Amino acid sequence: MYNASFAPFAAAFAFLNTAFSLPVTDLIPSLVTRNRESVPRLIQYVQTFHTINSEDNYLSLLPLLNQDTGITHVILAAMHINGPDGNITLNDDSPDSGVFDQTWAEVPTLQEAGVKVMMMVGGYAQGSYDGRLCSKAGDVQDEYYLGLESTLKYYNLDGIDLDIEEVVPMACPKNLVKRIRQDFGEDFIITMAPVASDLTSTGRSAFGRFSYSAFDASQAGQMVNWYNGQYYSGFVRGSLEESYEAAIDNGYSPERVVMGLVNSENDGGGFVGLDEVIETIENLQDEYRNFGGVDGWEYYDAGSSDGLARPWMWTKRIGKALFGDHSKRDITRRSRHPHHTPARPAGVAKLVKEGHDQIAAARAMRLAKGDEEAARKILTES
Ligand SMILES: *[C@@H]1O[C@H](CO)[C@@H](O)[C@H](O)[C@H]1NC(C)=O
Repeated sequence: MYNASFAPFAAAFAFLNTAFSLPVTDLIPSLVTRNRESVPRLIQYVQTFHTINSEDNYLSLLPLLNQDTGITHVILAAMHINGPDGNITLNDDSPDSGVFDQTWAEVPTLQEAGVKVMMMVGGYAQGSYDGRLCSKAGDVQDEYYLGLESTLKYYNLDGIDLDIEEVVPMACPKNLVKRIRQDFGEDFIITMAPVASDLTSTGRSAFGRFSYSAFDASQAGQMVNWYNGQYYSGFVRGSLEESYEAAIDNGYSPERVVMGLVNSENDGGGFVGLDEVIETIENLQDEYRNFGGVDGWEYYDAGSSDGLARPWMWTKRIGKALFGDHSKRDITRRSRHPHHTPARPAGVAKLVKEGHDQIAAARAMRLAKGDEEAARKILTES
């Protein structure tokens, strides 16, 4: 069922099921609306819900819809499992805190328009997985998991994005993914967020330390709808395009790899400007008819390094590149284009100059939270 080669058939049947259960009046708009479960996807992560610490200054997500950006998925971030019995926060606050009132009010509007709204768990702040969602042996622990399950169900979310940046046995993602699939059913979206180099290697991943390719070859791995690769922070070897190609050469189907980008220079190292991103998208779409799409981390300051005044403008520019009339473009551009090497964060570049491997340096810098000296220590100790 989750084997990539059957995915188009599964999608077609899902569509037919939906179509036949709807009255004709509902059927007509659904035929003209883009099938949002198809590729490419245009995904926006959102972690900042209020601009600059002001509770009044709510950052609405509705322009993503109303400005016709082409958005297909919104991923709210980051959920943390802090303790047992539903001790969960969305960043620093309980999901039912008033801080999120407007967000939860907007989610159904996005969903009614066909945008899937998901929740990312984990990420840069560690501790949600090791010893909480998973025991040390990698079994799902109900006292932590059940609070997550009920939160996802209470807010009627469409999917979960597992961003595991702490060391866990491979049994952890395997058991979690199987459990989520079992509890939420076939239509629920399960994604993971490896760094770019995790997708190009067969060895240990940068943070989880399990092999994503071995994981993906397992039954649970095939239950993951797609991977939101982190194509930034020094984990990109060569250009974006080369790094994406290397993941495909490593055995992933393009429809299961989304190219995740930092939305601005504030959001992480390895920012790439819109012009180069758009050229990369065009090249990858020429190369792979089933290119998985693009995600941005994170929304509030998207486009600020590209001179854009509002975050949705970045998303819309990407949407135009992804969904613009592809057939009209000159298909003689199919040949590979010159590759650029994206800028690396200064700290990583410095460590590379000192003779360290780039990916190892990028990993050390993230683990050290940007502290160069601490990163050096991690590199020499490993
Ligand atoms: C939630 O867990 C944290 C530890 O991560 C603890 O400090 C806090 O007291 C817990 N809160 C509740 C309500 O149990």
